[in-house]
Amino acid sequence: MQTPISKFDAISQQTIEIREPVLADGAPMHRIAENSRVLDTNSSYAYLLWCRDFAATSMVAEIDGELAGFVTGYTRPARPHTLFVWQVAVDHPHRGHGLGVRMLDALVESCAAQGVTQLETTISPDNPASVAMFASLARRRLATLTRTPLFTADQFPGGHQPEDLYRIAPLTTQEEWR
Ligand SMILES: CC(C)(COP(=O)(O)OP(=O)(O)OC[C@H]1O[C@@H](n2cnc3c(N)ncnc32)[C@H](O)[C@@H]1OP(=O)(O)O)[C@@H](O)C(=O)NCCC(=O)NCCS
Repeated sequence: MQTPISKFDAISQQTIEIREPVLADGAPMHRIAENSRVLDTNSSYAYLLWCRDFAATSMVAEIDGELAGFVTGYTRPARPHTLFVWQVAVDHPHRGHGLGVRMLDALVESCAAQGVTQLETTISPDNPASVAMFASLARRRLATLTRTPLFTADQFPGGHQPEDLYRIAPLTTQEEWR
């Protein structure tokens, strides 16, 4: 497991820790997803499984000991150099302070050190916050963001926006920038 990033924020007077998830994070991740009212909430079982099996490609943020956000991801089985980011959520009181992009940045840094060279995610057209966050991540990583259609609305049962595929590449560690 990687070393957690702990930081005391002198302005907000809060201790922020960004780290890989552990089993105890599953329930609060499920709660944050449900409270987002935007994400497709997975079962509580799915978040537990994610914490057990995909911790190395996921991140959580803790503020003063409380879970404030999470990123779930996996490396694509047929393309192990590609990190697919499934869900990103920041609990309402903590939004707009750079937490989402910082969790993603920490995840990319960790995965790039393991050989990941590109990130994929899908975003529906009605989610400008998510587009802005991934655009911000691409700028931070000095990489290019591209968009192509992936899932159409009629591929989802029960009504759902289409999901466009966003790719960020190339990804390298900050060490390689020097
Ligand atoms: C999307 C989400 C994770 C962003 O988290 P956050 O911590 O508030 O985002 P950040 O503060 O890190 O912002 C990152 C960038 O996105 C921009 N951004 C964030 N929210 C925005 C919004 N509502 N509208 C426009 N831009 C927004 C910020 O200005 C920042 O850009 P900058 O770096 O150029 O200044 C959060 O809004 C959320 O949990 N939404 C519900 C779940 C969701 O939609 N997840 C994404 C799809 S899986």
